[in-house]
Parts: sequence; structure tokens; C-alpha cells
Amino acid sequence: MTDTQYLLQTIESLLNVPKQGEHDPYRPVWHFAPRVGLLNDPNGLSFYNGEYHLFYQWNPLECEHGAKAWGLATSTDMIHWQHKPLALAPTEEYEVSGCYSGSAIEVDGKLELFYTGNVKYPQGGRTAYQCRAQLSESGEVNKLGPVMDLPAGYSGHVRDPKVWRHGDDYYMVLGAEDLQKRGVVILYRSRDLTTWQKCGDIYGTDINGKQDNNFMLECPDLFPLDGKDVLITCPKTWIDIDGKATETFDVEVTIGALDYQQADYQVESTCLLDYGFDFYAPQTFEDADGRRLLFGWMGKPDEYEPYQPTKAFGWIHQMTCPRRLTISNNEVLQQPAEELATMRRNHLSGHCLSTSLAGLSAELLLQDINGATSTITIADDLVLEVTPSGVTTKRKNLKTGLWQQKTWPGKATSLQLLRDSSCVEVFINRGRAVMTSRMFGKASGVKHDCGFRFESDKPMSYQHWTLEG
Ligand code: FRU
Repeated sequence: MTDTQYLLQTIESLLNVPKQGEHDPYRPVWHFAPRVGLLNDPNGLSFYNGEYHLFYQWNPLECEHGAKAWGLATSTDMIHWQHKPLALAPTEEYEVSGCYSGSAIEVDGKLELFYTGNVKYPQGGRTAYQCRAQLSESGEVNKLGPVMDLPAGYSGHVRDPKVWRHGDDYYMVLGAEDLQKRGVVILYRSRDLTTWQKCGDIYGTDINGKQDNNFMLECPDLFPLDGKDVLITCPKTWIDIDGKATETFDVEVTIGALDYQQADYQVESTCLLDYGFDFYAPQTFEDADGRRLLFGWMGKPDEYEPYQPTKAFGWIHQMTCPRRLTISNNEVLQQPAEELATMRRNHLSGHCLSTSLAGLSAELLLQDINGATSTITIADDLVLEVTPSGVTTKRKNLKTGLWQQKTWPGKATSLQLLRDSSCVEVFINRGRAVMTSRMFGKASGVKHDCGFRFESDKPMSYQHWTLEG
């Protein structure tokens, strides 16, 4: 397919999108979502040319996975987004099965884009090329083609380049499956962004004593933060759930130290980056103020994905809010980016055992939980339960209608909940843990009757705002 044919198909899909707006109860008020089609990973996150750039994995042609393109939206505050023309379409032979995930770095006034050209062979099997493209200040994208073929020693699953600068060199991490079916992160170095030399496998199964059954690590992201080198990965493995082999979609964050010369990454600690139902493939970037910011895909390609009701409105999935990362007491904290506070309206506060607070798009702050047992109802298919030993999100499964639960095991002292039409992000203890989930129950989707309701065995102080997007 040529670029023109792809664009014509995209326009057709946009023109035929089912009616949205008032009739779509799930469309976020302020989270980023595609107008049509399927959105997954954030890509190429950057602050360039005076604006935040949010590229994303996008299938504009249908609400299914497939040969992905890169969509693009820009913003000055990470709340109000402007949709931009398609950035990358999978039209060349080296990317025919998708312009897969990647990253961006500004060099000499241009935004350098690195992504994976995914090629699936008709007879089975696949290969991957790491490709380069450039976005100019005038908004034109120029594809420069592959800078790396599939390296020896790995299966066709080598992807998701994250590029950064350290000293005089550029570095890239790739997620990979090796020929022994072990998930690893590979480190590369380059002087000129064109010729890349492999430094080594720095992280994964059987490296520096790490033992696990991961067969692949997706979307690695390695960056300096408060004197440490933080590595985020999406390990893929199979676990048994009720006798059924089930693929995991977890995200792990590791604090450690990278020896760039020896290509050795020493791990200090690892934990889950999110404890909710819908969080995958996040990416970080440093903005003009030196903040380390993260967006994640608020979704997962699991067996329940086809049941999401937004498909009837022509779109599926959305991004998380922008989150600022810091390290404190050797833990990575995630907090809503400061800009989000500008959406606050209609402040209410109180101290009570139970209350109901209306707002489709709203924020609830509970600051003195210490030992209370409470239930926070967010929609009729999503409830948060807080006990002295943990925070549990309970949600009704879209396919089976059965309640499922996810727990963060720890003592909550404070909770900050950000709610939008069909999602909630729960920041526990000022960002020590986060639980991110979509919800589609009645109370979440009906504008005049939704919000937070909490009931507690000890009085709690709350603050509440509606959020104007
Ligand atoms: C993660 C992922 C990436 C890949 C992209 C394809 O969700 O599988 O590894 O590049 O999605 O859309």
C-alpha cells in the first residue's frame, strides 16, 4: 500500500465513525483517546518545538490490532491535545506488518524517531528492523529506513527502541526474545544515530543471576533518575489461572546502576509499576523543566479486550494521565503531573464516615486513612476496598460478568483518585503505588449520576474537585 492509499483509508474510517460526543458515555473528558480505531502504546514522547509530542501506536482502520501506524497529538499542557496528521504509516517493505513502538530524541533541531519495522512472512515467522525517521519543525516526517537488521542470536521478536544520549554517545535499549526463548534487554551504542554497535544483553533471564520464565521483554525504557538508572520493562510469560495458561501483561520497574562501558546493569530492587487492571507499555521522557514524565497505555491485549463497549463508538483504549516520576527512599514514585491541578473546580471538603460526591470527571483526596477499613464505590462495576493491610480494586469482568480483584499489599495512609468517564487512576501514599483501571458500568457512564461514594469505619477527611478538561 502506498502512503496515499493508507491516508485515503484513514480518512474513510474517520468519516464513517459512529456518532460520538453526547451519545458516547465512555469518551474521556480529558484523558487522551483516539477519534477512531485502536490505540495502544505511547511512542516518541518528547517536548519538541515548544510542545509536548505524544505519538502512539494506532490502527486507524479498525478497532483491532494489526499493522500499526504512529498517530500524533501535541499539547502545551498535556491536558488539551490537538490531533495531528498521521506520523508513520506501514507502507514500506521493511515495516509492512506495522510501524511498531519506539522513541524520539531531539538532535540539531529535528526530532529523531526510532521505531521497529515489523515484518511477518506469509509462510509464518517474522523479522524486525530498527528504523529511523525525522520530524522537522514544520511537521513533515521523513523516513530514513532501517538502521539495524535482526541481530544474530535472537528470534524475530526484537523491538521497541528507546534512545537517549549519555556523554558523547547515543544509546538504545531493545526488548528481545533470544534463541533459548528468554526475555532480555539489549544495549546498543552509536555516535551518529546511523551505525549502532551492540554493547551486550544487560538485563533478563539468566543475566546477573535473574531467574524467571519470561520469554520476552517488551518496551524497555532506561533512564537516569535522582542518581540511579531506572529500567522499566514489560515481561511476558505464561501463568496458570484456574487451570488455563494465561499470558501476563505486567509492567516492572527496576532501580539499579548501569555501567555503560562494561554493559553491566546491577539491580537493586524491582517491583510492579502499577497494580490495577489496565496499564501496559508505558514510556517516559524528560521535559524542558527536567521532569521525568510517563504516559502508559490504559489497556491490555488480553482475551477480554474484544468486549470493550467503546468499540460500538468506533474507538478503543486511551492513555493514562501524565505522571511525574521521582525516587524517594529507594522507591520510584509516580504522581499526577502538576498541570492536572489546573483542572480543579468546585472544591468541597469534609470529615465524615460516609458521603457521595458527584462528578463524571473528578478528583478525590483522602489524607488520613491510617488503619481505616473503607469501601469507595466508583462505578457499579468498580469498587475500591481499603483495609489496614492493602488496597484492592474489584471489577466486574466484561466477558464473564464475574467480579475479579487486584491487590496492592501495604498500608495505605493517603489516596488520590483521578476519575474520568470510564477510568480511574488511584495513587496510593503519594505515588508509592498506583492502580489504573477502566470501567464501563452504568454509574461510570451516566453523566448525571456518577462520582465517588465512600463508607468507612473511621471518619475520614476528604477533599473533592470536579475536573474540567
Ligand atoms: C506492546 C507491543 C510492543 C509493540 C507494539 C505493537 O504493547 O506489543 O512490543 O511494538 O505493542 O503495537
